[in-house]
Amino acid sequence: MQQRIALVTGGTRGIGSAISLALKNKGYKVIANYHKNHETAEAFRKQHSIDIYSWDVSSYEECQSAVQKIIQEHGEISILVHNAGITKDSFFHKMSPSMWNEVIQTNLSSCFNMAHPLVESMRQNGFGRIIMLSSINALKGQMGQVNYCAAKAGIIGFSKALALETASKGITVNVIAPGYTDTEMVRSVSENVLEKILAQIPAGRLGHADEIARCVTFLADENAGFITGETLNINGGQYLS
Ligand code: CAA
Repeated sequence: MQQRIALVTGGTRGIGSAISLALKNKGYKVIANYHKNHETAEAFRKQHSIDIYSWDVSSYEECQSAVQKIIQEHGEISILVHNAGITKDSFFHKMSPSMWNEVIQTNLSSCFNMAHPLVESMRQNGFGRIIMLSSINALKGQMGQVNYCAAKAGIIGFSKALALETASKGITVNVIAPGYTDTEMVRSVSENVLEKILAQIPAGRLGHADEIARCVTFLADENAGFITGETLNINGGQYLS
């Protein structure tokens, strides 16, 4: 069988880089998207021989033209792992409209922006895997993250609806909801707050990016075709839904 192509957004850092590597190790041709951090992305490309493309997932036009370019240069994309996301944490009464809009555009509207240009070819090929990265905080709520929780919860509704529409075409749409994972994003939380968070995790530690990545490869597999519309929680017991 021809090597399948997997596109990973935010795929050169944090959880995304672990996902890119895990998919590559499973034999997929991986393309990693990133936005602004050229230096890190270039180092990632050199170290792992994974092709990188820079664009902003909050822009429909940029997603559309990047997807077209990747298809022209590499072939049809069968697997989308949409992992790119940002935080703009603040208590709600201090949250500006731009903090709200940026997080909703980057974390939620980007699901439309990335899946829409890809879904038609997946339908025609009778195969597709769409895996969206949400968060524990979509399910449990989190003080300081009204914007983030709204966007990440939106991803779950988005994925359930798209799963229903695409199931008969061999496409699955699933969500992974990581808990607090040892990445730059979590390490940027202040130490006293992080201590409180750690105390809430029954496993007694942060998650590892590899532990999230191995669940992505499981859902991306050809043999995972009967799992769709699901949300897989990976959070060390911090929240059981
Ligand atoms: N858990 C427990 N307590 C928390 C908390 C949390 N996640 N976040 C804030 N608090 C507590 C603080 O410890 C503090 O308590 P005390 O008054 O008893 O000291 C109180 O709330 C006020 O917090 P700050 O003093 O930090 O207030 P601030 O206005 O300076 O900052 C904030 C507010 C921006 C929300 C900041 O507290 C913060 O960044 N909190 C972390 C929010 C968070 O969990 N973000 C997740 C980032 S990682 C991620 O998003 C990935 C993922 O999917 C899991």
